[in-house]
Amino acid sequence: MKIFLVAGARPNFMKIAPLVEALKEAKTNNHELHFKLVHTGQHYDEQMSKTFFDDLDLPRPDIDLKIGSGTHAEQTGKIMMAFEALLEKEKPDWVVVVGDVNSTMACAITAKKFGSKVAHVEAGLRSRDWTMPEEINRCVTDVLCDLLFTTDLMASDNLKKEGIDSDRIHFVGNVMIDSLLKHREKALKLRQWDRLHLKAGSYGVLTLHRPSNVDDPNIFQGIVSALEEIQQKLPLVFPVHPRTEKMARSFNLWERMKSWPNFHMMGPLGYIEMLSLTSRAALILTDSGGLQEEAVALGVQCITLRHNTERPITVAVGANKVVGNKPNVIIDSVNEILTGNKKVFNQPDKWDGAAAKRIVDILLNGG
Ligand code: UD1
Repeated sequence: MKIFLVAGARPNFMKIAPLVEALKEAKTNNHELHFKLVHTGQHYDEQMSKTFFDDLDLPRPDIDLKIGSGTHAEQTGKIMMAFEALLEKEKPDWVVVVGDVNSTMACAITAKKFGSKVAHVEAGLRSRDWTMPEEINRCVTDVLCDLLFTTDLMASDNLKKEGIDSDRIHFVGNVMIDSLLKHREKALKLRQWDRLHLKAGSYGVLTLHRPSNVDDPNIFQGIVSALEEIQQKLPLVFPVHPRTEKMARSFNLWERMKSWPNFHMMGPLGYIEMLSLTSRAALILTDSGGLQEEAVALGVQCITLRHNTERPITVAVGANKVVGNKPNVIIDSVNEILTGNKKVFNQPDKWDGAAAKRIVDILLNGG
């Protein structure tokens, strides 16, 4: 059996790493098993890509399509063309895609039309927000996949309600949490907060990169005014996505943020550095998808700067509050956490470090 594992952008690498490990282990008893790691090159900066391979003990990709940035259509189209040529040459039996980025959808469509079987890891998540490119990527990918691996039963239900056969859906847990549990100790030992002269438990971690927050100057400016007030009470660490930096500079917000005393801005961090910081944060402020889930596993409260989440399980267990992007609401939510008691939340079922093994067992048994 020949399997392709596809990764393209930063949030894919920590989902692919445990799958590579589980496949390597399975290969020791199964000499018919062959797998290759394909990187589309959607993310290509050292800090958005290569560092993750080092941090996650991921082998270098067997194939790098080196697609790079572009508009959605350009990026998707270029990935599809390059991936199709690769499929013609290699003819894999299975293509495994993860998450919801453009590479996920582009490779799923191409593989299905080519005639390979396709599996989607992290299937069934729905924000019901069709202005998000990721929602389009999720729905298109799920509808055509032969196997759908979900992180929780809400996601499985979403798929069933969309008419997908139950025997294609497998609730396996969360591969991203496999990575987190594996690397947590190393991340704690790094004590990244010391390097920034911060005290464990007394700073917040911020990430911001969604077009809905950073592409509109009024919205971005509103968030920045909330952050200005928050950092006076709680030091904030802000690893900045390249597009966010570009937008902040063009809206003249960059120098303003740089001038605040308790606001620690830096380029994108590696996986272990970021995990180190989030592990000991007082709270996480984010518009990312994955961080909402990592907050649950780390026992850290999360404030999501969006109007919806495709990960409602994080809200259901009490770890996450979805607050939108109005400055007063953001400030009030932070104050609520800072003045309240520390919450303890239950871990979702099967977020236990063994999701990748469950997936590989199902794949090798033909679904
Ligand atoms: C992508 C995903 C998003 C995910 C995010 C995490 C899609 C539709 N979006 O968004 O779901 O949350 O990754 O990071 O797939 N850039 C660089 N260096 C890089 C990559 C990108 O400078 O290595 C800059 C370029 O200006 C590029 C822009 O970031 O045009 C956007 O990159 P792109 O891959 O299109 O989407 P992201 O915003 O990174």
